[in-house]
Amino acid sequence: MTDETVTFEKMNETSLSHQQQRAFQPEKLSAPRDFSKPSMLLNKDANSMPIIIEIGAGKGKHALSFAAAHPNKHLIAIERTRNKFEAFAKQAELQNLANLIPVHADAIAWIVHAIKPKSIAKVYILYPNPEQHNPNQQWLNMPFFEFLLSRLQEGGEVVLATNIEAYMDNAVQQAKIVWQLPTLRQPVASDSQRTHFEVKYLARNEACWELIMQKPEGYQTRFDNWVASF
Ligand SMILES: C[S@@+](CC[C@H](N)C(=O)[O-])C[C@H]1O[C@@H](n2cnc3c(N)ncnc32)[C@H](O)[C@@H]1O
Repeated sequence: MTDETVTFEKMNETSLSHQQQRAFQPEKLSAPRDFSKPSMLLNKDANSMPIIIEIGAGKGKHALSFAAAHPNKHLIAIERTRNKFEAFAKQAELQNLANLIPVHADAIAWIVHAIKPKSIAKVYILYPNPEQHNPNQQWLNMPFFEFLLSRLQEGGEVVLATNIEAYMDNAVQQAKIVWQLPTLRQPVASDSQRTHFEVKYLARNEACWELIMQKPEGYQTRFDNWVASF
């Protein structure tokens, strides 16, 4: 490493808006199988509609109702588990919503290859429920979260919901201390029915929480100019 590289890296690190040391390595991820960019990401006119992403859409309950209620927004809803995705895709076909794009893929690889910097208005991550003994699987603990923030527009939001109190406590701490984001933590209303998991937990009288994180103006990541090459 030359002196110049060291100086450049130091400058880069000091201008970052967050405290995450370990960098995500998008160049190591190959495109998902049968990958193709949805036409709305290629069509400049369609891009005037805000683009929302849902990660881990399950059987699509939230995605279908959100897209029906917001015809002026595009929703890309990503689910990697085949049987859940197939149930979702079947409903999506029946409802034929022009602004809903169901995607069967791992969200990390798909977002790396499909989404431009600062192009997303909002990201929903609803009841991700990773294995509880594996904190590396929590979204705000992952280096990928920096990449996800780089894809958000300034003022854009990430909405995370969970019924696991320890997950929410850690997410709030990571959002504030590592990612330096303004946050709002609030309880989910007991009559909310956004997703299948939310309905199940609230029916058992379990508490559910939601965390809304906003990307401030001028927020800088290491991926603000990074686009996948083919
Ligand atoms: C507990 S389920 C919740 C599903 C739905 N959001 C709900 O609340 O009913 C979590 C879902 O996230 C999906 N998932 C987890 N990691 C993912 C990833 N990297 N890409 C796409 N889907 C993912 C899983 O397959 C699973 O269906």
